[in-house]
Amino acid sequence: MARSLAGSRVLVLGGSSGIGLATAKAAAAAGAKVTLASRSSDKVNAAVAQVGHGATGTALDTTNDAALEAFFAKQPEWDHIVVSVAAGRSAGIHDMTLQDAYGNMNAKFWTAYKTARLARITPEGSLTLVSGFLSQRPNKDALLQGCINAALESLGRGLALSLSPVRVNTVSPGLIDTPIRAAMPAEKKKAMLDHAAATLPAKRVGQAEDVAAAILMLMTNPFTTGSTLYVDGGGMIA
Ligand SMILES: NC(=O)c1ccc[n+]([C@@H]2O[C@H](COP(=O)([O-])OP(=O)(O)OC[C@H]3O[C@@H](n4cnc5c(N)ncnc54)[C@H](OP(=O)(O)O)[C@@H]3O)[C@@H](O)[C@H]2O)c1
Repeated sequence: MARSLAGSRVLVLGGSSGIGLATAKAAAAAGAKVTLASRSSDKVNAAVAQVGHGATGTALDTTNDAALEAFFAKQPEWDHIVVSVAAGRSAGIHDMTLQDAYGNMNAKFWTAYKTARLARITPEGSLTLVSGFLSQRPNKDALLQGCINAALESLGRGLALSLSPVRVNTVSPGLIDTPIRAAMPAEKKKAMLDHAAATLPAKRVGQAEDVAAAILMLMTNPFTTGSTLYVDGGGMIA
């Protein structure tokens, strides 16, 4: 039977936008005491106002080891943590500087790894990572992103053993319409989303709320750990 989130302490890293923000809203609506974090204090403040229900927020760059350590050191135990930090611009192997490649790995993979090391989570609690479909369906224009996602899924399975009885799961979203593509030309974005809606078995574009619902299930289902859940409209089988 699903556990209640009422009164639980939930942290969403990358909670000021997209999937993280939708997760923060859904958890708060389910009665959780939500804290969300990301780099931009403006985005954090705006998100806290949207989430409501007494949510709090903090400006935190998770690539800053000292800042992340200081953040977790002064926090009591969490019931549930969700890591939904985005990596940065994707590109092909010859189109990205090594510095950017290291930065992407740092933001997405090492944030999850460091969080698992630093955070204290209650025994009945959970850690949920967000990977992505590129782990299974590589794309030459986002080569590293697929590698990062695959590493995260492996990390999630391993952490389910390392942190037991804390449950650790990974959600792998397909194409989701979030601000992650804010820099993409509007016409190109529309064409991509229209194509997805026409060709995916689910016949629609994914929304951040679809992924948030899956994350909440993983937080509250006491028998789910070490799993990777695809929320991709059937993209994996199409
Ligand atoms: N949308 C999709 O189609 C899709 C598909 C597959 C996988 N995913 C994955 O899902 C996750 C969430 O993506 P999204 O679509 O929700 O993206 P988003 O709307 O761009 O949200 C990303 C969040 O990460 C935060 N962030 C970025 N770098 C950070 C850092 N160094 N420290 C702390 N926070 C940081 C951002 O806030 P600040 O800018 O304030 O830091 C923002 O809150 C990502 O890992 C993404 O790769 C998304």
